[in-house]
Amino acid sequence: MIINPFPELEELLVNGSHPPTPRLLHLLEEMQIGYKDLGDKIVIDPSLEPFDETKIMSELLDALSPSESVRFEIYRDIGSTNEHVLANVEYGQLYICLAEHQTAGRGRRGRRWISPFGHNLYLSIGCYLQGPLEAFGGLSLLVGMRAVDVLRELGLSDVGLKWPNDLILDRGKLGGILIEFKSQEDHGVGVVVGTGINLRMNDHHASQIDQNWSATESYLNLSRNVLAGRLSARLIETLREFDRHGFGNYLSRWQDYNLFAGQEVIVKRGSEHFIGIDRGIDEKGNLLLDTGSVMQRHNAGEVSLRPISDH
Ligand code: BTN
Repeated sequence: MIINPFPELEELLVNGSHPPTPRLLHLLEEMQIGYKDLGDKIVIDPSLEPFDETKIMSELLDALSPSESVRFEIYRDIGSTNEHVLANVEYGQLYICLAEHQTAGRGRRGRRWISPFGHNLYLSIGCYLQGPLEAFGGLSLLVGMRAVDVLRELGLSDVGLKWPNDLILDRGKLGGILIEFKSQEDHGVGVVVGTGINLRMNDHHASQIDQNWSATESYLNLSRNVLAGRLSARLIETLREFDRHGFGNYLSRWQDYNLFAGQEVIVKRGSEHFIGIDRGIDEKGNLLLDTGSVMQRHNAGEVSLRPISDH
């Protein structure tokens, strides 16, 4: 289902053009959507590929089981897909939520996720898993690994991960994953897996990002609908896989995805920092940092990692 409270904007997105109205022009300016004003009609920026339910579903259908209760929604504008799914996912349901634009996109460790209209991917998938919550340390790593698989299959062969789950391409952050939990309930733990991937950034939005970034358009022409469908399908399978087997089976594969395996890195915790060699992860998904004298274990919620060369 597509959710858009603005019918004229929806018509413009679906048909590509619409007569100019003051409200439509205001919305386009407010959401910074590219368009041309031809006098008698507004034409949408032709490089924009709005999300299309049918195209996404055709990539996704095989991953859904007929007995499952699925809620699938595309918002043209939302605060945060993660916040929305976290508040609304119900037990027994698989909730897939995409947005063209987020006004309050959330990043890890309390940061903002810059979410301009129409060119990137903002996806949240919610469901209930068996838990317990303490067993979920590896989920965010496994989700990162599977997201890399999808991007590599689509042609971005150099994508990899920076622990715990930053998607990195050409030394810039291509995407990120934010996993949030509802409190543990009798029937399991409500989980939301949120993924943001940059397909295109303009200078205005890029200037708001406080780290090196990358976007797929510099490397290949990727359909947002294909990416949205394939990534959703793979992440749904990943959630099932994790519910059945946990992370243990995938531990040894982490280093194939880790771009900094065996390299010198700097780990920051508040005002402290530690320098050492990245030796991968333990069974809980903690980073193993070899300082030369001791093997430290760091928890993803508490620290951030940088390659020493960026310091
Ligand atoms: C990170 O900081 O690396 C994680 C970023 C996660 C962003 C995605 S975009 C879709 C979902 N909704 C949000 O508000 N955040 C996540």
